[in-house]
Parts: sequence; structure tokens; C-alpha cells
Amino acid sequence: MEILSHSVKETQEIARDLAQTLKGGEKIGLVGSLGSGKTTFVQGMAMALGIDPQYYVNSPSYTLINEYNGRKRLIHMDLYRLDSYEALVHLGYEDLLGPDSVLVVEWADKFPEIRSLFDYRVLFEIADDASRRVSVQKTLTSIPCLDKWP
Ligand SMILES: Nc1ncnc2c1ncn2[C@@H]1O[C@H](COP(=O)(O)OP(=O)(O)OP(=O)(O)O)[C@@H](O)[C@H]1O
Ligand SMILES: [Mg+2]
Repeated sequence: MEILSHSVKETQEIARDLAQTLKGGEKIGLVGSLGSGKTTFVQGMAMALGIDPQYYVNSPSYTLINEYNGRKRLIHMDLYRLDSYEALVHLGYEDLLGPDSVLVVEWADKFPEIRSLFDYRVLFEIADDASRRVSVQKTLTSIPCLDKWP
């Protein structure tokens, strides 16, 4: 599904709509260039999950992982400054995942090793100063019946 967002608020509303469908345990990968709206999207998700984004949600570029407690736990990672997949594993992010948490990752296409991790992939493109093309894709790996195939 591709939507043209005309403002920060609209991008946050798209994120909110997606977040409201989540049951917990989902992993969402965000892909798009600098300033294309990834962190803005996470702020919208946080709002929907009952976390106050005004005070907490910014890019976790220096801490690499931020965790927020709302109606569900939101785990926010940004791979921009991470050098390798090994460094990512070393962060221990897998230990944070659980049935009540939602993982959202900026620069999700950086390491091929985690490409199949995501239930949703959200692509961001800068259309002009105030507009972003936002494409929400549900990935095939999340279709349960595929697990049963040999
Ligand atoms: N429709 C829009 N949706 C989202 N952000 C927008 C929109 N129009 C303009 N912007 C601006 O684009 C910037 C998006 O910043 P944001 O931090 O969300 O991007 P990002 O993809 O996380 O960047 P980075 O790769 O540096 O982490 C903000 O300055 C915001 O004001
Ligand atoms: Mg960001």
C-alpha cells in the first residue's frame, strides 16, 4: 500500500494506523534515505501504543536501541551507525523481543542477514520538501501457512 504523505502529521497517522493493527511480537523494518521520515513514523507508532513521543522518541543513533513502555513495549533500533551484523547480534536485541513487544528498525536494509526478520517493511521516499511517499508492505514470511511448507 503506497500513500503520499503531505506532512509530519500525516506520516504519523499512517504509522498510527499500522500500529493499531499490531498484536505484539511484530517486527517492522523502515527503509529510506536521510530525512525521509523514518523517525517521524516511529513517533506515530509510539503515540498509538500509548507512549508520549514528545519526550522520548528521537533517533537512537547513539544508544542504538531505545525501549519504551506503553500498552506494548516498543523497541526502536537505528542501524545507521552500526558497522556489522555481528555488532548487531552483540547488542543482544533478540533478548528484548517477546510477545508483548514491537520491534521497529531504521535502516533495516543495511545487513542482508536480517532481511527476512521483518513482518512489515515500510519504504520512504522524499517526494518534495513536505511530501513523502510511504509504502507499507507486509512480507510473505509472516504468512503462517508458509511455515508448514517443507
Ligand atoms: N510528509 C512528511 N513526513 C515526514 N517528515 C517530513 C514530511 N515532510 C517533511 N518532513 C521533514 O522531514 C524530516 C524527517 O525526519 P526524520 O528524522 O523522521 O527522518 P529519518 O528518515 O528518520 O532520517 P534519518 O535517516 O536521519 O534517521 C523532518 O525534518 C520532517 O520535518
Ligand atoms: Mg531517523
